[in-house]
Amino acid sequence: SRTDSSDLYQLRMAETEVEIVKGLLTTVRAFGGCFPGPTIRAVKGREVVVQQTNDLDVHTSVHLHGGHVRSQYDGLPMDLVEPGETREYRYPNEQVAASLWYHDHAHGLEAENVYRGLAGAYLLSDPHESGLPLPGGEYDIPLLIRDARIETDGRLVYTDPYECPHMLVNGKERPYFEVAARKYRLRVFNVSPNRHVSLRFADGAPFTQIASDGGLLAGPVELHELTLAGAERAEIVVDFARYPVGESVVLENTAALETERPEVLRFDITRTAEDRSRVPDVLATLPPIPEATVHRDFWLTTFPDTRINGRKYDPDRTDVRTTVGTSEIWTIHNHLTRRPAGVFHAPHSFHTHLVRFRVLDRDGEPVGPAEAGLKDTVAIHPGESVRIAMTWGEYPGEYVYHCHHLVHSSHGQMGRIDVL
Ligand code: C2O
Ligand code: CU
Repeated sequence: SRTDSSDLYQLRMAETEVEIVKGLLTTVRAFGGCFPGPTIRAVKGREVVVQQTNDLDVHTSVHLHGGHVRSQYDGLPMDLVEPGETREYRYPNEQVAASLWYHDHAHGLEAENVYRGLAGAYLLSDPHESGLPLPGGEYDIPLLIRDARIETDGRLVYTDPYECPHMLVNGKERPYFEVAARKYRLRVFNVSPNRHVSLRFADGAPFTQIASDGGLLAGPVELHELTLAGAERAEIVVDFARYPVGESVVLENTAALETERPEVLRFDITRTAEDRSRVPDVLATLPPIPEATVHRDFWLTTFPDTRINGRKYDPDRTDVRTTVGTSEIWTIHNHLTRRPAGVFHAPHSFHTHLVRFRVLDRDGEPVGPAEAGLKDTVAIHPGESVRIAMTWGEYPGEYVYHCHHLVHSSHGQMGRIDVL
């Protein structure tokens, strides 16, 4: 519903039965009865208010991932919505257009709550972005990709990522999509609790990346493969006009488990359609890279414990203190020197609340154009040191930064930052 100044969404978090695998019923934890949660559409400059009622028997906390949001609405790990309670979250939507998402963040429970379904897309548009001739309307589609383990009786089993062979797209296992032979804008979200994905078309067809986590890139980037660490997003434009009607093309995950089929999604080209869309050479003017006055180092460890700088998250301890307007460079180190043989491994996925940052370099090598836009999450591979730059603003208060492998954050790979 709408008032003059804001849009109101009322969602219930409750157990719901859904059909993920054809013919089987699976109980999930859902926002608003949907798995994934209903897509929230926001417009820059217009506030969205979401009232979340917790009808589950576990604590929750709802975080808008990538959102520039006041601390009291940020969905902090200890700012819980108790069973039976309703909380109101207010999102100002003052940032540029981006594909954000909302998900549970209750301390220690986020890995299981997100795994069981508490995640949904939040699409923010602005006049600049809507004015571009990109594919829109029914040709602009969010794809929320994640892994899962579903037993033959339909039960969703909460387990380690290397025991999760089912890839779900928008809540269905390896679905197909009927598309027209024209260009589409696909907003790809990796909402896997603990996995990275590397997506390519089985025929090797190229596609064009136009946006990353925090909004449009400066210009389009041609790709054949798209790797997303947990919680990362990318928007791509795919031209299905290269296929005749009647043909199909499969999107596959080259980072699939050995026990798993690489197929993630199939597109069936079923019809022709007019296409006036195009990808302009200039998509956005990115803000200048912040000139840092403060440098900090963060060591992410997994063995013997999942920590940041040797410490486990303690909501009562401030790990970083900064002030509104301070520009910083953070160097994030993955302490592993190489990928451990025979062990399931994915890069750490480093995320900070409140800000969009810029990725400067990986081990001193400047990042490519696909990673040079506004980001809120970045992959840190074994042995790697990645530098990011951000300016803290403009809401003072308590926030967190953490690994978005939710098993890691649940086990304390998270820190508290107080912005004064
Ligand atoms: Cu996607 Cu701290 O979260
Ligand atoms: Cu991690």
